[in-house]
Amino acid sequence: MDDIKYDTVKYNASKDYGTPKKFSEKQVSLNIDGVDITVPEGTSIMHAAQLTGVTVPKLCATDSLEPFGSCRLCLVEIEGRRGYPASCTTPVAEGITVKTQTNKLADVRRGVMELYISDHPLDCLTCAANGDCELQDMAGAVGLREVRYGYEGENHLQAEKDESNPYFTFDPSKCIVCSRCVRACEETQGTYALTIEGRSFDSKVSAGNEDFMDSECVSCGACVQACPTATLMEKTVIDAGIPEHSVTTTCAYCGVGCSFDAEMKGDEVIRMTPNKDGGANHGHSCVKGRFAWGYATHQDRITTPMIRKSIHDEWQKVSWDEAIDYAASEIKRIQAEYGKDAVGGITSSRCTNEEVYVTQKLVRAVFGSNNVDTCARVCHSPTGYGLKQTLGESAGTQDFDSVMQSDVIFIIGANPTDGHPVFASMMKRRLREGAKLIIADPRAIDLVENSPHVRADHHLNLRPGTNVALLSAMSHVIVTEGLVKEDYVKARCEWDSYETWRDFVALPENSPESLVEDLGVEPEKVREAARLFATGGNAAIYYGLGVTEHSQGSTAVMGIANLAMATGNLGREGVGVNPLRGQNNVQGSCDMGSMPHEFPGYRHVADDETRDLFEKAWGRPLSSDPGLRIPNMLDLAVEGSFKAVYCVGEDIAQSDPDTQHVTHALESMECVIVQDLFLNETAMYAHVFLPGASFLEKNGTFTNAERRISPVRRVMSPKNGYEDWEITAKLSKALGYEMNYQHASDIMDEIAVLTPTFKGVSFKKLDELGSIQWPCNDEAPEGTPTMHIDEFVRGKGKFFITKYVSTTEKVNNKYPLILTTGRILSQYNVGAQTRRTANTEWHKEDLIEIHPHDAEERAIQEGDWVGISSRAGETVLRAIITERVQPGVVYTTFHHPESGANVITTDNSDWATNCPEYKVTAVQVSRVTQLSDWQKKYQTFSKEQVELTENAITKAVVE
Ligand code: SF4
Ligand code: SF4
Ligand code: SF4
Ligand code: FES
Repeated sequence: MDDIKYDTVKYNASKDYGTPKKFSEKQVSLNIDGVDITVPEGTSIMHAAQLTGVTVPKLCATDSLEPFGSCRLCLVEIEGRRGYPASCTTPVAEGITVKTQTNKLADVRRGVMELYISDHPLDCLTCAANGDCELQDMAGAVGLREVRYGYEGENHLQAEKDESNPYFTFDPSKCIVCSRCVRACEETQGTYALTIEGRSFDSKVSAGNEDFMDSECVSCGACVQACPTATLMEKTVIDAGIPEHSVTTTCAYCGVGCSFDAEMKGDEVIRMTPNKDGGANHGHSCVKGRFAWGYATHQDRITTPMIRKSIHDEWQKVSWDEAIDYAASEIKRIQAEYGKDAVGGITSSRCTNEEVYVTQKLVRAVFGSNNVDTCARVCHSPTGYGLKQTLGESAGTQDFDSVMQSDVIFIIGANPTDGHPVFASMMKRRLREGAKLIIADPRAIDLVENSPHVRADHHLNLRPGTNVALLSAMSHVIVTEGLVKEDYVKARCEWDSYETWRDFVALPENSPESLVEDLGVEPEKVREAARLFATGGNAAIYYGLGVTEHSQGSTAVMGIANLAMATGNLGREGVGVNPLRGQNNVQGSCDMGSMPHEFPGYRHVADDETRDLFEKAWGRPLSSDPGLRIPNMLDLAVEGSFKAVYCVGEDIAQSDPDTQHVTHALESMECVIVQDLFLNETAMYAHVFLPGASFLEKNGTFTNAERRISPVRRVMSPKNGYEDWEITAKLSKALGYEMNYQHASDIMDEIAVLTPTFKGVSFKKLDELGSIQWPCNDEAPEGTPTMHIDEFVRGKGKFFITKYVSTTEKVNNKYPLILTTGRILSQYNVGAQTRRTANTEWHKEDLIEIHPHDAEERAIQEGDWVGISSRAGETVLRAIITERVQPGVVYTTFHHPESGANVITTDNSDWATNCPEYKVTAVQVSRVTQLSDWQKKYQTFSKEQVELTENAITKAVVE
């Protein structure tokens, strides 16, 4: 065989190279079983052997984990060296000659296997892992024919199974104590839930407490993935058997955008396995993507279209043609009667790029207005605005891998371990390597001090609503203490804007001491954090909805960009401004023109050249007037001039603020068309229900928080009959405009023609590369991991004055506490998907967290029912008493509709984008004994709606 050069090697995601890939400038040459190979210094002999095509037997090694060297199966001989070193823990050395297959090695390996098998159940034929078990494979590979010690000795065969986790089992009788699971939990996930207890024969894997459910385990699945035997095993595989084919697709939950192999038997998903080649996740997963996909086949799913005249009528099940014709005739009637602006569309960040694109096209080209908006309005619209103004592009600047080059990580208003768990695992790895951590959050999120081997160097536990004051105070310190990187600013930014900003933040009113009353944070803590950020090396900012969902959300985003520019932390790896997007396709839905003032690619509808381009492509005249945002649609519906909405995949009745206003608006409309999987809260107010397809049933793309466009691939046929873009295209046709796409890829081809940053994107290229980070065009044919390298997209970066203006939502005697909201790992957004999975075992209801001091004043005890009232409304939740929240602040999640978290939130919003101020609501809390009036009304109404739907289903069955 010819000499193998490392740079010509092509890695194969389905192959296990035994130990992780190493990176080094220095190359080392050696000979393995007669083949010369050159690899980076630090590579293990096992890994190098795999690259030559030789498989060395192994059990305790796998290429997602650092080698451990415990099983002794991978021994090799090295010419001139004594003994038999383990190839997994022995690095390559220049000029050595290695033999992996000799008679002596074969004897040793058989002996090792005999020991394992003598304490292992001999139930291979009935074992769930039969055919997918490394122990079985190794027994074959080493040629094991007999077990000389017999099977009667002391053993672990009666060890009790732990089935407490809803998704996987732990059967210690099959454990070979290789510790891959322990290391996966530590290295990959960073949770440290597992240990090896005891020594020698008594050593066993332990989850600390009695069972997995009581342990620190967060059900990420990394240990199950790493286990070479049937000890840790997915229950779906135990039930249904080993999958027979797989299709690579993308998780439909959060904005991390993990790549998965949907492993199938026929048309049934058996297991979702994180893909090693996934650009965002590198083979890791969290409980949602890995296990919580059963909602796609849940019995609650509605798969037949339904219509009705009034929301108090029973639903009628109808054919697709009838439903589409009815929806189209209502839109036509309403536009004829009330004008074209009486109708609009709402898209969702859960939709694919292609679905969002066709929906905004329908609104602009067929409805004839720009009345299209998206749920990104209520989460990250300030990101779009703030980053466009300062840097020139409405997107994060880095890829996730960049965090591994960061020296200082500044998290503000985000909770990555719950909201973006797979990225959080990578971030924790970097923190364990020594990066410093600054957290600005009113609440002590897990990363503050509740994650093993990670502790924030500074927790700035500011009062909700004061991010802008904090950013100004940190900037004040940086400017007045001479820590600005002036060379960078001079070269890269508009100097005039910098000077104006510098003079503004240097004002005494912006010092940490002057702002201490607003912030509630000791000035010296702010000063130390600012110094660390400016001088600690590569500093990266990660932020979430705790920044954007405020009356000054856009101001805070600009403040973040100012801070990054002033300290020279943009334009290379390890730094940057990184919005952590909540839902899977927040970035994509914004990119695709789902805002009322912008075409795809963030181009204003008033720009003549862009409008001309789209008019020519679509063959329809287009309006130059920005359309209605969701809050405008709702206000005008209540006033009586907005009459119909086409709502695709979005549940505004649960997710938007001031629920009673939203439901009043929906009740006021004459035609609400909902396209979704389930009869969600908005659908209860609908007149037309168009059943949608799950992510497993469609083709398309999602774009994650790092601008990574990833393929979504149909792994089973849609239970409702159509992919969602096809339904939108049908509605368009019924309204007289043919869209003429044959496949979702045709839609992406049109996007690429009309959108400069997507020019080079196609399904074919996605198949070749796996994923692509936009911009992808002639200058960057394979995409752009880091943005703004030589210059900002807008040319020079621009500083903006970010004056702190406190919110009008003030505490007073009547409402003395501030309610702020967030999410939890096991649930996702409005919970429509995760509530229909076993994830509810971790979070059955939304709870209100309250500080012991505030609880005591109100005689509230753990588990009490607590009434929470605000200027907008009242609801009742059960209390948790915890010092995670500071005195004066209460906190809840919003995953269950009956909680009514948004009954309390007000309609205050960001000055620039109308993003609601979810994070600050003045409330009072007190012990109560019954549900709120709203909750009672909600129960009655939702019961009525479920019955109206069930009646329709029953009738359809009888017919
Ligand atoms: S459970 Fe699996 S991975 Fe963990 S020690 Fe046992 S065999 Fe190894
Ligand atoms: S599922 Fe994840 S968190 Fe739980 S024990 Fe396994 S690796 Fe650790
Ligand atoms: S929910 Fe997010 S972190 Fe979890 S698997 Fe899906 S994309 Fe990855
Ligand atoms: S694989 Fe090398 S010692 Fe186990």
